[in-house]
Amino acid sequence: MFFDDCPRFCDTSATAASLARLNLRHEAMIEPNRDILSGARVLDLASHDGRWSFAAHRAGATHVTGVEARRPLVQAARSNFAEYGVPSDRYKFVRGDLFEVLARRKFDVDVVMCLGFLYHTLRYGELLSGIMRTGARWLLLDTKVTTDTEPRIWVNVNRTGVQSHAAKDDMSHRRQAIAGWPSVPALRLMLDVYDFDVEGEYDWAGRLESRPDLTKAAAAYATGNRVTFRCRTR
Ligand SMILES: C[S@@+](CC[C@H](N)C(=O)[O-])C[C@H]1O[C@@H](n2cnc3c(N)ncnc32)[C@H](O)[C@@H]1O
Repeated sequence: MFFDDCPRFCDTSATAASLARLNLRHEAMIEPNRDILSGARVLDLASHDGRWSFAAHRAGATHVTGVEARRPLVQAARSNFAEYGVPSDRYKFVRGDLFEVLARRKFDVDVVMCLGFLYHTLRYGELLSGIMRTGARWLLLDTKVTTDTEPRIWVNVNRTGVQSHAAKDDMSHRRQAIAGWPSVPALRLMLDVYDFDVEGEYDWAGRLESRPDLTKAAAAYATGNRVTFRCRTR
């Protein structure tokens, strides 16, 4: 399986980096999307230690730009890419607050990956409008959600000192940042506002059915509290 051959990613992250979980997410987020990643210019928001940027590269992306707020993670991503021999003209890692980067930089990409980030913010309008402005035709989105059947958002607080949480930015205060988990109807509503159609949803329930061994590594997916969408712009 994919991460069996690049085990560094289990060591350079303290965030849900078990081999079983990484491999399962690869099956859901990368495998079904090889057709759009191959030959694509990819923007990976909240790129962490580069794990999904690297997976996109291996899936045939011609160039990957990762944006990540935490400096040690950007350094880890760069060293992972160097260690695995990726030519330096095929990728770039930008250290910065992705909201600022999306607002200030002009991107021209085919695919945006927003994996494991949307539920660390409440700034959905900025996030989705920023993604829309990149001109990407595709958005790969993986996020925690609530199972509420109405379009609601469950507001909660992230600790900016925690590696997996929202990073410190202009809107955080006393090491806290406001975040929210949307319900699936809320998520679909917001995507629709910015002209994204959900074209595909990974069948996590089908994948995890009768597999308690795997369910442990992907608990939120198993309970419907996490989804993986492939979106296309209208
Ligand atoms: C839960 S991790 C997800 C990592 C990876 N994308 C994945 O799906 O496995 C969230 C990541 O978002 C990054 N992050 C949080 N706030 C950010 C911000 N404002 N700008 C850029 N990165 C941010 C964190 O440092 C962390 O690497």
